[in-house]
Amino acid sequence: MITAKTKLCMVIGNPVAHSLSPQMLNAAFVTCGLEFVYVACRVENVKDALMSMRALHINAVNVTIPHKIHALRYVDRMDIPTRAIGATNLIVLKENKLQALNTDWIGAIRALEEVTSLANKKVAVIGAGGASRAIVYGLKKKNAIISVWNRTKSSGERLVQEFGLHRSFALSQTRDLEYADIIINTTSAGMEPHTGSSPIPSTVIHSKQIVFDIVYTPHETKLLKIAKENGAKRIFGYKMLLYGGAASFEAITGNRAPIDVMEKTLLTFLK
Ligand code: ATR
Repeated sequence: MITAKTKLCMVIGNPVAHSLSPQMLNAAFVTCGLEFVYVACRVENVKDALMSMRALHINAVNVTIPHKIHALRYVDRMDIPTRAIGATNLIVLKENKLQALNTDWIGAIRALEEVTSLANKKVAVIGAGGASRAIVYGLKKKNAIISVWNRTKSSGERLVQEFGLHRSFALSQTRDLEYADIIINTTSAGMEPHTGSSPIPSTVIHSKQIVFDIVYTPHETKLLKIAKENGAKRIFGYKMLLYGGAASFEAITGNRAPIDVMEKTLLTFLK
């Protein structure tokens, strides 16, 4: 029940109406008997929204597209991963200070490690934006051999230099993708409403590979369909949301996340 003592959490973004975080987090709060509630707010001005955290005593704010990078300007503190990644997806109010965290990389690495080890694996990361930075940060920590494929080659090159990665390629240079053990799509290619497109052609995917698409709308993207047809092992995008959400839940409440309930809730709402 929502009472005068209920603690408020939210996700801010634009657009945000498609977010499944409210269902996932509210199910977790109810399961653990915690007096928290989680809503979604469409936010254009991230500065105003973050300033209101102090005014309204909002406990925690998950930050999503397009505010993950810009939001860092308005926080009081950030932890080491968040600084290295240069983006946040969770801001908590502690002792009247705004603290930025990043649980995206935790979610992605847990999703990957559920099916494979990462040390010395050749990983092809497609995309060089905020999500890619978080995943590359985590992969580096696990000693993977990382190359980046990006539509704009210069952004991929910048990422390679900044994080000390193996190589960068233009997205059109698909031949070398064959040598990857793991392929990760971090771009929005294939996301609703563009469900008919894949960031890479089917010819480069084979049965010895693992394909992870961080897009979760639709649940089974074109890339994941191709991966299945070619016999590759697959990791669905919702897993990153699930495990990143679990890390957010734990940072917000100090309780262990009820993963099974959160996953069941997500799967109910995924199409
Ligand atoms: P996010 O924070 O979700 O990672 P972003 O920072 O805007 O979003 O980054 C988007 C990434 O997806 C970029 O690497 C972008 O490529 P460019 O650097 O060339 O812009 C890539 N991207 C977006 N749409 C794409 C598409 N349809 N095909 C291929 N790459 C795409």
